[in-house]
Amino acid sequence: MGQRHHKQKAASPPASVNAVAVLDIVLYPDDRLRAKCKPVESFDDELQALIDDMIETMYDAPGIGLAAPQVGRDLQLTVIDTRDREKPDPDNPGLLVLINPRIVEKSSETLTWEEGCLSIPGVFDDVTRPKRVVVEALDRHGEPFTIEGEELLAICLQHEIDHLKGVLFLDYLSRLKMRMAMKTYKRTKAGYLADLKKKREEKGDPA
Ligand code: NI
Repeated sequence: MGQRHHKQKAASPPASVNAVAVLDIVLYPDDRLRAKCKPVESFDDELQALIDDMIETMYDAPGIGLAAPQVGRDLQLTVIDTRDREKPDPDNPGLLVLINPRIVEKSSETLTWEEGCLSIPGVFDDVTRPKRVVVEALDRHGEPFTIEGEELLAICLQHEIDHLKGVLFLDYLSRLKMRMAMKTYKRTKAGYLADLKKKREEKGDPA
């Protein structure tokens, strides 16, 4: 998930002995964003490397959530970090790695939040969702855990779990709002691609 007023990197990824990489983010529209992702079955080194790369990619963007299909991987895996460096919250769980997650409880009370998505840069719109959710998932080592989220964390959990089912926040918009969003996106996508090209040229990578 992305935010309009994104902060600077809110936290640092954990130190790793392996070289981590910032992965290419799949941009809308793309069939890979519409896949119903497969459950993760093997918690091997390859998965650990993918998780580390996804965390790096999320912080680099910067974003507060990233799902595997957004880096072209058809797996039920998402990383989330909704911490705000300027407003530390002791209740925030920090960096989360959720594998094969499922929502087991939703509040009837809803919340309208302006959402964005790293795969749809520059597009932001209001979406109404349950204000509180409980999610069951596996951690990066395959151990089950339960996480309860309210407000931004609840919104982010739902947004990312939607990605694993091929659902995007755009799908909740009215036809009129969708038309407006696509008009904006034409411009913002071009800007995003131009920035990306510049960034790569500065790093000396092939464009
Ligand atoms: Ni997203």
